[in-house]
Amino acid sequence: MAYLRWRRVLELVSIDRPALSPLLLRTGRKTPDAGANLTETWDTVYEEGGYEHLSRSDQRHHHRLLAALIAEARPQARVLEVGCGEGVFYESLRGHRPAAYLGVDVSPLAIDRARRSVTDPVATFSVGDGAAFQPPGEFDAIVFPECLEYLGEPSDVLAHYRRFLAPGGVFGVSMWMNAGSIALLRKLRALETIRDQAVVLSQWGGGWTVVTIEG
Ligand SMILES: C[S@@+](CC[C@H](N)C(=O)[O-])C[C@H]1O[C@@H](n2cnc3c(N)ncnc32)[C@H](O)[C@@H]1O
Repeated sequence: MAYLRWRRVLELVSIDRPALSPLLLRTGRKTPDAGANLTETWDTVYEEGGYEHLSRSDQRHHHRLLAALIAEARPQARVLEVGCGEGVFYESLRGHRPAAYLGVDVSPLAIDRARRSVTDPVATFSVGDGAAFQPPGEFDAIVFPECLEYLGEPSDVLAHYRRFLAPGGVFGVSMWMNAGSIALLRKLRALETIRDQAVVLSQWGGGWTVVTIEG
């Protein structure tokens, strides 16, 4: 417990002191090797139950905040979620009555589970690589809950999706705080216009940064 509290202090301090995060924090997240078969890699994670914890209530506070910020910026939005996994974020979005929702993920297994568990007619799902996905039509909000860090250079990813944002649209991002995501956040803050930025602390230590960005 003392370690987790200490780690939380380091993470919060590191957000505004860029030099500290690589020195003090190890990257906690395993990113697939370059050239790895993404479908197989992520299907295996889901097969092995690696993301079962994501549906727990205490893992979804960042979803709730992100969904509320999106709904405040663009009420009843048409929402695209990149890296939607099993569709858990939609549970937080549903109460805000989105006009439409499309979730895309590189894992066919996760998308199959999402289709079975989310039966709302507003929600649809598709298999695709979020780094280059060409969605049909335009969206008022495009969100990346715990996914942007897997897609490459964040500014390239946002530039790709900006073409599919309606005028006045917004991006939404949430990331578990570690050295990698703190570095990514610094890039976003340098290159993009941030609307909102907040930290959601978990009850066991550490937390998520939640950001909305002008489209
Ligand atoms: C930590 S999970 C987050 C799932 C979901 N967004 C949530 O918050 O519950 C990361 C997700 O990103 C997906 N992912 C990773 N790389 C991807 C890519 N290149 N294209 C699409 N999805 C990807 C994984 O399959 C996984 O479902």
